Amino acid sequence: MPVISTPHAFNEGSLFVDLEPVFGHRLYLKCEGFNFAGSIKLKAANEMVESAERDGSLTPDSILVESSSGNLGVALSMIAASKGYRFLCVTDSRCNLSTKLLMEALGSHVHVVTDLDANGGFLGTRLEYVRALCASDDRYVWLSQYTNAGNWRAHFRTTAPEIASQFPRLDVLFVGTGTAGTLMGCARYFREWRRPVRIVAVDSMGSVAFGGTPGRRMIPGLGMSMRPPLLDESYVDEVVRVEEADTIRTCHRMARRGFLFGGSTGTVVSAATDWLSRHGTRGLTAVAIAPDLGERYLDTIYQTNWLQDLYGENLLGSAEVDNAWQEDSASRGQGNRRSP
Ligand SMILES: Cc1ncc(COP(=O)(O)O)c(C=O)c1O
Repeated sequence: MPVISTPHAFNEGSLFVDLEPVFGHRLYLKCEGFNFAGSIKLKAANEMVESAERDGSLTPDSILVESSSGNLGVALSMIAASKGYRFLCVTDSRCNLSTKLLMEALGSHVHVVTDLDANGGFLGTRLEYVRALCASDDRYVWLSQYTNAGNWRAHFRTTAPEIASQFPRLDVLFVGTGTAGTLMGCARYFREWRRPVRIVAVDSMGSVAFGGTPGRRMIPGLGMSMRPPLLDESYVDEVVRVEEADTIRTCHRMARRGFLFGGSTGTVVSAATDWLSRHGTRGLTAVAIAPDLGERYLDTIYQTNWLQDLYGENLLGSAEVDNAWQEDSASRGQGNRRSP
């Protein structure tokens, strides 16, 4: 029976979902949403805060500041509340409303930037704001998840060994890329491991993390409007880019089986199932990482109007729509689209 006295002391590290019944591929999904911050970012937040405490840069007078698309902001809000630090999160208009409300409920301040940067994203604008704050008052402490080695070290110490201990014969690992903290921590761990593991990085179309042309991205978490400073491509065997439409279809397909995951999980699973279809799965052990759960995306990925406004009427095909409902509404002459 785990009994805790601080919220960051608990994190479920050994839960995997077998996705074969949903997609027909032998693919295990490591679930990182079962902690009080609700995402994988708790690990990076913990490691970066503890390291700043150890090196003396974070003191009781400090005001933590961080640029985050949301999940790191929630994790830092939780840790700051628990440890008595003040925290200001700089995010952008793509941040989910529920994520922003969560941070505020935990006592943090949230600043939302709305101006696009030169790459068509918000990261440049967010970083500019953080730098200006830090220059204005030396009580601000910026952990800088984009450059902080604690970000990848957290996954080297926790996520990767958690996978290795459950799957000693792992062949392929699919990891989504935002800051590249998860990717680099896992890739470094498996490079040193006794078995070679193929590392497949997953990015969203429109992200320039691995180069390419910037484009519109509406789903937070994965993708960057700059090259992630933590990224060392010599550790990555392959990069797969996923269209947002495929991300959404994959999220809905899992939801129809009762598994409500966040957007980046849809992206990673879409890449993994596509890769496994192309390469064949016989005898392969494949794992993908699910960074969070779906509740924070109810007003976006799981909301019909949002989907129709951004991606048009026909995004979700019959595979993602409940057949029983379809037959039922057809028999009543109401068409075949199910409302959420
Ligand atoms: C939902 C979600 N998925 C994936 C990621 C990417 O993880 P990383 O920054 O370790 O690359 C993030 C990072 O914020 C996230 O919030």
